[in-house]
Amino acid sequence: MTDRPLIQVIVASTRPGRVGEPTAHWVAEQARATGAFDIEVVDLAAVALPMFSEPEHPSLRAYTQESTRQFSELIDRADGFVFMFPEYNHSYNAALKNALDHLYWEWAGKPVVLVSYGGVAAGARAAVALQPVLLALKMRIAGLLPIPFIAQLVHADGDQRVFQPNEHVERGLKNALEGLTAALAPTN
Ligand SMILES: Cc1cc2nc3c(=O)[nH]c(=O)nc-3n(C[C@H](O)[C@H](O)[C@H](O)COP(=O)(O)O)c2cc1C
Repeated sequence: MTDRPLIQVIVASTRPGRVGEPTAHWVAEQARATGAFDIEVVDLAAVALPMFSEPEHPSLRAYTQESTRQFSELIDRADGFVFMFPEYNHSYNAALKNALDHLYWEWAGKPVVLVSYGGVAAGARAAVALQPVLLALKMRIAGLLPIPFIAQLVHADGDQRVFQPNEHVERGLKNALEGLTAALAPTN
């Protein structure tokens, strides 16, 4: 434990071969290198939540399932987030919605950077679709980084796949992380 804020980089895509995973690891490295945050990568494929089936509204925290309780503990300890999510059919992906719907207070009030990606539209429609959901959860958007044609930036390196940013993406992430730092600063 340090006195730095804990930021979780959430890998929203759960499909085999997803480009979101190597990209999230690059984002995590860059965020760690600022020295401003402690960083964890939270992979929704590994978390493997079932489809939401709690009987009570999550704001009551009356969780009945062990998977929900574990996810609650995981998200509760974060001070802020980077959501790394793809555009699927002009919106964000279902695994991210399912994860958001599982909890309430664990998300509420915390800042989030939205890293959206896809083809020419860079996941912008997904980011727009996500915003009312974040408002309902009282989350605060601290930065936006839309990445167009992301597949062109992910390359094989031996048996690994690595994200190799261009200068626009590098600058965009730097700005977004500065927004996150500002959003985490005490206000008074
Ligand atoms: C079900 C599905 C729907 C998609 N719809 C869109 C879309 O609306 N807009 C877009 O730019 N790309 C779309 N794509 C392409 C994805 O952006 C691209 O496959 C990307 O790599 C997905 O991210 P992932 O590899 O991390 O899962 C879609 C892909 C899938 C699998």
